[in-house]
Order: sequence, then C-alpha cells, then structure tokens
Amino acid sequence: MRKYLIAGNWKMNGTIEETKALIDGLLTGSYDTDKAEMVICPPYTALTTAGKMLNNSKIALGSQDMSVHKNGAYTAEISSEMLLTVGVSFVILGHSERRQYHAESDQQVNAKAKVAIDADLTPIICVGETLEERESGNTEAVIGKQIDGTLFEFSAELLNKSVIAYEPVWAIGTGKTATPEMAQDVHQFIRNRIAGIDKEAAEKIQILYGGSVKPDNAKSLLSQPDIDGALVGGAALKADDFLKIINSL
Ligand code: PGA
Repeated sequence: MRKYLIAGNWKMNGTIEETKALIDGLLTGSYDTDKAEMVICPPYTALTTAGKMLNNSKIALGSQDMSVHKNGAYTAEISSEMLLTVGVSFVILGHSERRQYHAESDQQVNAKAKVAIDADLTPIICVGETLEERESGNTEAVIGKQIDGTLFEFSAELLNKSVIAYEPVWAIGTGKTATPEMAQDVHQFIRNRIAGIDKEAAEKIQILYGGSVKPDNAKSLLSQPDIDGALVGGAALKADDFLKIINSL
C-alpha cells in the first residue's frame, strides 16, 4: 500500500513573517500521519526559518530546485549539501515553470535527480504536457519522453528513492483541473512506463497530481487508484486549505 504525499509548492511566495504564520497554522492542525506525509517547499530565503520550526515535527521540508553542482563558481545556485544543512529532505525538480522560464531539460533534471538521491534528498520529478500538446493528441508521447529522459539510467534502487509529479501545464495556476479520469489515465500510463524499468519499483513509486488542486476537488482526484498525493501551489499558501486537502483523504 502506497502512502500519500501532500506537497506544498509555495513558489516565489513567503517572507519570513508569512512563513512563520503559515507554518504556525500548519503545526496546529492535525491529520492522519499513517495515511499521508506532508511536505512544504518554501522559497530558499525561508528555508532556514522553516527548518527550525519544523525540526522534530511530522512535517517535512522541501526545496523548489537545486544545483546539479556540489560547490564552486556557480553564482546564485544552491547545492544539495546547503539544503541538507537547513533540514531539507525533498527537492522539486523540473517544475514546468523551471522548464519554461529557465529552459531546464529532461537531461538536466535527470542529472539533478541523481545528485539529489546521492545526497539523501528525495527528488519530486515533475512532468506534464501543455494545452497544445494535449489538444493535438500528443499527451502520452510527451509524457513518455519526459519520463524516459528524467529517469534515464535509473535502477530500481533510484526509483525507490524518487517521487513523480504529473502536472498538466494547462492546469497550473489556471483554476482548470484535469478531471479525475483524465489524471488517472496519465498516472496509469506513467506507472506502466516505469514498469518497463522495474515492475516492483513501479508499484511502489508515489505519483502525485498537481494543477489547481483545491480542498473541493482533492478527494475525487486522490481517490483514483494511481494518484498517490498532490503537488499543491496556490492552495498551499493557506494553512486551512492545505490541511483540508490532506484531510480529504
Ligand atoms: P497550482 O500550482 O496548485 O497553483 O496550480 C501547482 C504547481 O505548480 O505545483
């Protein structure tokens, strides 16, 4: 039985004061930790504060990206080791906004994911098609290529230490959500694709859905057999909404 993972991607939101208030709200809420794990991914500047507040709590800390390099002359980059020192244990990689605005490729995501796992960080590897790709009937071709590229040379051991997030680009921040059936179809496709690498690992790997997940649509999405959690943007910025999402399970 796969455990659910509910991840909050705060994106470029969260001053230190806002971070404190939001985490205070989350820490006072309750949810079934046997069923689901919660992880929040604040911006870099808030990670130290968040790490201190979440120390010894049930909520895990994640980063929104990470450098592929270990250290050195890479202006503005943050390494896996730096993330570890502030209590980070997850890292989102290949988010569509990184792909779109920073030209991140599957190959780069693949290299970062290997570095993350090597450092004991769990990568949340994002894939997703654009509206144009969906409307032209290319969803599976696009997702298949992204899965093959981001998981290039992955063994069962690496798959067991990874999480996948399916986020249709057209559903991110738009209020448009894939129907539970549409999402389930792609999740099943992804799991089958991963089964081509290793059947057992494909059964174990958590595949999250992302794209306008809200308290009122979370239950129907999360009740699909191949949807093992959510990557939540906008609704992760309100403690009440985020707690409602995890409590819809
Ligand atoms: P959204 O963002 O929930 O605001 O659509 C999801 C994401 O980009 O991870």
